[in-house]
Amino acid sequence: MQPPLKMRDIVKRFGTMTAVDHVDLEINAGEVHALLGENGAGKSTLMNCLFGLIRPDEGVIELDGEAVEVTSPKRALALGIGMVHQHFKLVPSLTVAENVFLGTEAHAGPFVKEAEQIRTVERLSAEYGLEVKPRDKVRSLSVGAQQRVEILRALAKDVRILVLDEPTAVLTPAETERFFEVVRGFAASGLAVVLISHHLSEVRRIADRVTVLRRGKRVAANRIDEVTNADLAALITGNDDFAPSTVEMGTPGEVRLKVDDLRLRSARGLDVVDGVSLEVRSGEIVGVLGIAGNGQTELVEGITGLRAVVGGTVSVAGTDVTGGSPAAVRAAGLVHIPEDRIGRGMAGYWSVADNIAVGRLDDALGSDRFLSRRRIGGLATALMGRFDVRASSPRQLAKRLSGGNAQKMVLARELSKDAGVVVCAEPTRGLDIAATAFVRNELVTRRDAGGAVLLVSSEIEEVTQIADRVLVMSAGRIVAEYSGRRPTEAEVGRAMLEGKK
Ligand SMILES: Nc1ncnc2c1ncn2[C@@H]1O[C@H](COP(=O)(O)OP(=O)(O)OP(=O)(O)O)[C@@H](O)[C@H]1O
Ligand SMILES: [Mg+2]
Repeated sequence: MQPPLKMRDIVKRFGTMTAVDHVDLEINAGEVHALLGENGAGKSTLMNCLFGLIRPDEGVIELDGEAVEVTSPKRALALGIGMVHQHFKLVPSLTVAENVFLGTEAHAGPFVKEAEQIRTVERLSAEYGLEVKPRDKVRSLSVGAQQRVEILRALAKDVRILVLDEPTAVLTPAETERFFEVVRGFAASGLAVVLISHHLSEVRRIADRVTVLRRGKRVAANRIDEVTNADLAALITGNDDFAPSTVEMGTPGEVRLKVDDLRLRSARGLDVVDGVSLEVRSGEIVGVLGIAGNGQTELVEGITGLRAVVGGTVSVAGTDVTGGSPAAVRAAGLVHIPEDRIGRGMAGYWSVADNIAVGRLDDALGSDRFLSRRRIGGLATALMGRFDVRASSPRQLAKRLSGGNAQKMVLARELSKDAGVVVCAEPTRGLDIAATAFVRNELVTRRDAGGAVLLVSSEIEEVTQIADRVLVMSAGRIVAEYSGRRPTEAEVGRAMLEGKK
């Protein structure tokens, strides 16, 4: 039988840089095919060619043995190709249901059948275990909820080739489990699924075959049972020693960040943070773990000045910053790596250099107090090198960076600042194996230089490997604390699920 999809000898260049370099990809009906590679390897670019978002410079796309021109996403959908995008393509001012049906609305005469759309979204949401409220405006949603909408939007279409570009990055473990069952079910019914992911354990559980890209070139295509995770890591990085080192415990000094009985409300008036107290000392990494949606995101917003404080206090290096603006909190000595990096962490239409320099104006100013392009460029180039931000040049627009490289750009700006307190939410989300190790190492280095680090994450492993103290959050409260030792993953996993004090 013909594989339904063949991409042959695909080339895509951006300026002088070849993002996809003569790549072949064959996807069979009924299989989940993992597409792996480092940040910037060309995974999204290759799939964007398939979905008609960009046109390849060379190569052929064949469906059932026939060459097709995929000139637009609309054309892709008509050909039966659907895609869940890494950077969500949602319209913030529209509702969930309107986004799901955008461009494919059901009409009754000139009127959109709104009630029918809402019912369909409710049905899909229940069927796939992805909770959304069809009437909510996308603008008001957390990144996790936006991810669920983005997935439902692809699943609502009638497709036979489904591309998933890091679809589970912001789902909870339970949602991910359920979603993978749904995806396996799709494959079993004959769909061809392409899954992009940086999580090898996830890939191993769900994929039948894998293709690895490195710097735009295909370096391997195998059945998953023919390769070990160590083989895959070596293929992805081009480097075969990857033992994670164990991190020594830190030596805490005086308190740098103090949160006392903090209370915060959601837009709907619910107590999302319900009396949280915590301290982070210099020389200490405090991890906050919890299943997404238990107040961690809001806690970070409350600390960093992004959410109104209803009760309690926050102080940074002895300065009371309760209710202060983000700028005031920063001025007190805190840097923040936000969870919603693309929305909040960067300006897409600015260059990479300007995005880095904006947080580092003091260093970009000369002794004459003038900002010069050259100094900004120099600073950016140095930081891009140190954080391995791969872009065609410092002048490249930030929105054109690969997902992981955009992330590294925000990290480069924030982690290179001199501040006593670092608050980071999901700092390694979307990063490849090497970049993840690098960021963890940076946080530990910062701690050892006397920094106070608050690490909020949904990755149990990340927290249990580097935190000196671990707090578990559930329903807006701290329900467990582990200090003086690193808890096991099973232990914290249980506390996260049980959620009682
Ligand atoms: N529109 C564009 N203009 C210029 N360069 C681009 C554009 N889109 C992508 N690139 C570059 O192409 C390369 C491949 O990017 P791509 O997004 O395909 O990587 P990726 O494998 O999906 O990485 P990640 O895991 O970080 O998402 C990157 O170096 C990126 O900067
Ligand atoms: Mg990508």
